Amino acid sequence: MNIPDDAFYTLLNQALAQRGEETLQRALYHALQEAILRGTLGAKSRLPGSRAMAQTLTVSRNTVNGALEQLATEGYLLRDRQGSRVAILPQRPVVDAPEPPAVRLPPHLARLPAGTQRDSPTLMLTPGTPAVNYFPLPLWRRIIDRTLREEGSALLGYGDSAGEMRLREAIARHLTLSRAISCDASQIVITEGALEGLTLCARLLSEAGETAWVEEPGYVGAKSAFLSAGLHVVGIPVGEEGMQPEGNAPLPRLIFTSPSHQYPYGTVLSASRRLALLEFARKQGAWIVEDDYDSEFRYSGEPIPAMLGMMENAPVVYLGTFSKTLFPALRIGFMVMPKVLAAAVQPLISSLLRGGHRTEQVALAHFIEEGHYARHLASMRRLYRKRQLQLREAIGRELLFPHQIIGGGGGMHLTVQIDGIDDVAVVQQARQYQLAPAALSRFWLDETEARSGLVLGYGSTSASQFPAALRTLQQIMRRCRRG
Ligand SMILES: Cc1ncc(COP(=O)(O)O)c(C=O)c1O
Repeated sequence: MNIPDDAFYTLLNQALAQRGEETLQRALYHALQEAILRGTLGAKSRLPGSRAMAQTLTVSRNTVNGALEQLATEGYLLRDRQGSRVAILPQRPVVDAPEPPAVRLPPHLARLPAGTQRDSPTLMLTPGTPAVNYFPLPLWRRIIDRTLREEGSALLGYGDSAGEMRLREAIARHLTLSRAISCDASQIVITEGALEGLTLCARLLSEAGETAWVEEPGYVGAKSAFLSAGLHVVGIPVGEEGMQPEGNAPLPRLIFTSPSHQYPYGTVLSASRRLALLEFARKQGAWIVEDDYDSEFRYSGEPIPAMLGMMENAPVVYLGTFSKTLFPALRIGFMVMPKVLAAAVQPLISSLLRGGHRTEQVALAHFIEEGHYARHLASMRRLYRKRQLQLREAIGRELLFPHQIIGGGGGMHLTVQIDGIDDVAVVQQARQYQLAPAALSRFWLDETEARSGLVLGYGSTSASQFPAALRTLQQIMRRCRRG
């Protein structure tokens, strides 16, 4: 050994004495490993025999042999008939690195909007979170069990990169009936929520440096997806009839819109604007990315047809999600493409996606085919319609600040414009009270144009909680007045 025996045993005895919760074997293993990594025990050093070590350390020989065996398996020691010697490690890992290496991320990522964690089920008024406690869990568990029983190991491979055929067929039938989109499974790709659909659109349909139009105010996820793809993201103001492109906006390759229920304003893109946008995209060679995130929950007027279904081979990629209609953790969404685009893109999908999550996808196909999905949608529609009315009433009674409720023809949130407050500060403080509304101003790219207010989700909050929640928000707003 390159250190005297005394020093060697002192080092190990100290480690054993300070081992805390660790077993003797584990403590011995760690002490020897560290001594080798630090060079205290140099390469080729021969260790005392296991019997001698056990006697001197007053531990069992099994304990010593167990630690030495583990170190030999991991390549720190070489063991032969004469005992154990320290291996020559290719390059000694730096144990005490003086400073962590500087991390340099691509500069365009600095423009990503701040994200929010929506992880706690106890948070109230969170926009976009459905009533997960109404989801028929026992039924879902039975369908998952049945799927695993019937399909067994057949579902354990990667599967089709575009997603389970059975689910794509079920979605195609559902969209034909409920959204007037006539499509087949070959036009559909299953994604990890609408968010992955957005990143796929950016990767498949645009190049870094090209322009993407987004709604202003609009869905933060779309901005993040496009910015992270290196696109130049331009906000297009949203008026009463939806997105209103102005003459001087740079020409886009992608146009993101939530036409059936604009997020967060809740407006509907009028039929004439839809046709004009479709015509513009066609002439321009641009693609419209249609986010239909919560169109299933419409409470007034006729259902609004999807843009993808408005004309044959419309220049539209339609994004749908089960995050709002079932539960967010499912992380299943889908992208529907016109036939010509699907034919061009499907061969590339196997380079970009790897399938997986097959049990959930097949179970979801059964859930849709057996009518549970339509039933759940109908009952959630009733629940949310009622909750929205109750939230409106509670706002009318409790919110003394001058305010204006915008939109509200459907969905799971109400947007309340409230001038003169620092809405970001309100939202930060509200967290202490388990309230998680969103700050309206955060939905603008251009802060100078932003209006303040709160986006209040009622999907996962019961009506009995509205009055107290609003009174708390009112108190916080008093503390967060501007000017
Ligand atoms: C406007 C909008 N689109 C789409 C989504 C769905 O995202 P995902 O399917 O990735 O959960 C959300 C969810 O917050 C949303 O607010």
